[in-house]
Amino acid sequence: MTPRTRGTLVLLALLLSGACTGRIQSGGTGAGAGGGGSEECPPLPGSNSETDRVRLALAPDCAGCHSSGDFGYFASATAFESLLVRNARLIKPGKPEESELVMLLEGKRSNSSQSQMPISGDSFAKLDAAGKTKIHVTEIREWITNLEAPGVATQANPSITAAHRVDATFIELGLRDLLGLVENDFYSDAYSHGVYTLYELSADYYDLRSPDRAPGQWSTAGRFTSLGGSSAVVSAHGDPSVSTNFVQTLVPLSQAWCRMAVRKSGNTALFNVATAKTGSADKAKARAQVADWHSLFLAEKPTEADLDDVMTGVFEPLEKKAGLDVAWIGTCSYFIRHPLFIFY
Ligand code: HEC
Repeated sequence: MTPRTRGTLVLLALLLSGACTGRIQSGGTGAGAGGGGSEECPPLPGSNSETDRVRLALAPDCAGCHSSGDFGYFASATAFESLLVRNARLIKPGKPEESELVMLLEGKRSNSSQSQMPISGDSFAKLDAAGKTKIHVTEIREWITNLEAPGVATQANPSITAAHRVDATFIELGLRDLLGLVENDFYSDAYSHGVYTLYELSADYYDLRSPDRAPGQWSTAGRFTSLGGSSAVVSAHGDPSVSTNFVQTLVPLSQAWCRMAVRKSGNTALFNVATAKTGSADKAKARAQVADWHSLFLAEKPTEADLDDVMTGVFEPLEKKAGLDVAWIGTCSYFIRHPLFIFY
């Protein structure tokens, strides 16, 4: 075990004991949980008040179209954080140049049908040049440059027991996006008696959909609430704890989704260095891909020792035992079950 994983485990133990009011409480034991320590939770690692300023300053130009649904970034501070700030494609901490949000604001995104935001009329940069915005694009670039990659501190530090656990909505939308999967990988859609309806393609895909999201998908409501998601429709309170339910749902889900993502042809969201056919025969490439996944899922650059751990502890044994397909799937789901993914 590296010192870092040890540190993480100590921190995990602290997290599970729930020292301050708020985020992580031990197992949802009702009114008493977390009641003793009424200490305020310190700010989340990785988040900062500048993020709040940016959100509020962008809102007048964006919230009209982005306050609900899959793209509801401005619905709340949490939505902004989990749907936008934590989406590594839209925002790469430290790298405004590579962040699609910046390309959209500047009207320069070329890899998609939407090249600018707001979606019609002048781009945000043009509005900015005309003095019509509440924040300059240069300030947004600067915010991204200074944004810390979200992650849990490497040292056990009792003052930062307030890491967030990923929530069900982040898994539904953010993880799906990270893996390069889209709604149509899980559902076919059609009008049934004039009502727009989604049909689950296979129960094996472990689809996840908030029961509050239209069109409704009742079959996955239990899965969503097991992951701690809140729902008005099925009257479920959100549960931010790492419950047995959460773990028992995340494990098969991560395997099913990684299987789909690894087998999805041309999935450059996941394979941008190697391909699903790259194995130990091309060690450098496989290792570079794993390094990229480390950054993608854990928002942290791996050390050589971290990479050794994953290659010799996960990838290579799986490849030897069960073949390449399983090696990539297993490595992918290893990252999703990693404490640094689950907590940020
Ligand atoms: C007039 C409506 C409208 C406004 C205003 C608007 N957007 Fe959008 N935005 C959309 C639509 C529609 C989409 C595409 C959703 C889809 O792909 O189905 C979108 C997509 C996006 C995406 C997702 C892109 C992706 O690739 O995942 C981001 C990020 C985004 N908008 C940010 C913003 C920001 C920031 C602003 C304010 C500067 C803004 N939008 C203003 C309508 C709008």
